[in-house]
Amino acid sequence: LKGRLIEVTEDELSKHNKKEDCWICIRGLPFLCSQMTCEKNIITENHSSPHMWTGFVYNVTPYMEYHPGGEDELMKAAGTDGTDLFDQVHRWVNYESMLKECLVGRMAVKPIAAP
Ligand code: HEM
Repeated sequence: LKGRLIEVTEDELSKHNKKEDCWICIRGLPFLCSQMTCEKNIITENHSSPHMWTGFVYNVTPYMEYHPGGEDELMKAAGTDGTDLFDQVHRWVNYESMLKECLVGRMAVKPIAAP
């Protein structure tokens, strides 16, 4: 699966905003996962070494009809970063494991300005 992960831009994400084609990003704000800066924008499933970390993008289309909160609720986050909505209703839900098969990739990391 790792090899098939792609880097998703906000532009690309926003195009997948329909019920039959719905992507949602969770925890997409880029941040450094340690003190050290790192040039590498690696797409990995674990962020064990210091590098930019962004959220996961999921294709939730197949999950749509199974979402306990309903399709309309899930659609509120379609094509966007749904983190805030997600956290407001169920911060505890383990989306990583639930949506493992739906993983599309990571948000593209925007270059950060040098301090
Ligand atoms: C309920 C999963 C996104 C709104 C649930 C439940 C699960 C779930 C497992 C049942 C929770 C429980 O009973 O404790 C997910 C996953 C998401 C997602 C994997 C990943 C994208 C969202 C988003 C919204 C939302 C973006 C937008 C508002 C709701 C609502 C409920 C619910 C309103 C019903 C809560 C209730 O009746 O108590 N979701 N959800 N969910 N979800 Fe989501």
